[in-house]
Amino acid sequence: MITLKSKREIQLMRQAGKITAAARALAGAMVAPGVTTREIDKEVCRFIRSKGAEPSFLGYNGYPASVCISVNDEVIHGIPGRRVLREGDIVSVDVGAFKDGYHGDCAGTYPCGEISEEARRLIDVTRESFFEGLKYAREGYRLPDLSGAIQHYVEARGFSVVRDYVGHGIGTRMHEAPEIPNYVEPKAGRPRFLRGMTIAVEPMVNAGGFDVCVMSDGWTVKTADGRLSAHYENSILITDGEPELLTDPEAE
Ligand code: MF3
Ligand code: CO
Repeated sequence: MITLKSKREIQLMRQAGKITAAARALAGAMVAPGVTTREIDKEVCRFIRSKGAEPSFLGYNGYPASVCISVNDEVIHGIPGRRVLREGDIVSVDVGAFKDGYHGDCAGTYPCGEISEEARRLIDVTRESFFEGLKYAREGYRLPDLSGAIQHYVEARGFSVVRDYVGHGIGTRMHEAPEIPNYVEPKAGRPRFLRGMTIAVEPMVNAGGFDVCVMSDGWTVKTADGRLSAHYENSILITDGEPELLTDPEAE
């Protein structure tokens, strides 16, 4: 069931979203050669709690950290640890915060020092594909309009869209209906976008093929071909006009 949020709920989701976006910005700003992924996780956890919120991911299905940090060929769900970031890495950070009963969820991929031309392009196309999809996140369109826009944008630039993981509704639970694929998936149905829907749109884009595999830690998802992957996500509110970014990357 897709829930439509009330004015009061939307206000609470703005609050959660603002903390989540600031946590992503903090994580992104920490990406640098010599930093460990655990250091980023610790700082982000501290920040979220300092805002009176809880990290959404910590303990979710047993996930052991506050942030997912996925480097280079890691697509999503990388577990922070002793890994030291190196010049040339691309680092996807995904973070969620739960405040007063509502979740925010967002992600982005950040360069560690100087990165290759291909890596830069992959990061840019991934972020741009989100904003391409966003054009259809409004009343008058349906889910496959958004999914197809992301898929087309990515594939026209020679990259591929991950099929095995998708975006989602968000609210009192981190994952609510509907599933939001980043490619046209007939089984996803064709729900209409209606004002009051809150969804997390999150293209995961691979430089090579779309196949992925899960590592033996039970979490880390990597590209099957070992090539680079990037991620970009915001939680958004459907309105009668422009969608509202609940995890606005521009807001401090
Ligand atoms: N941000 C992820 C998503 O959108 C959730 C991370 S999975 C977790 O689905 F286990 F780490 F929480
Ligand atoms: Co998400």
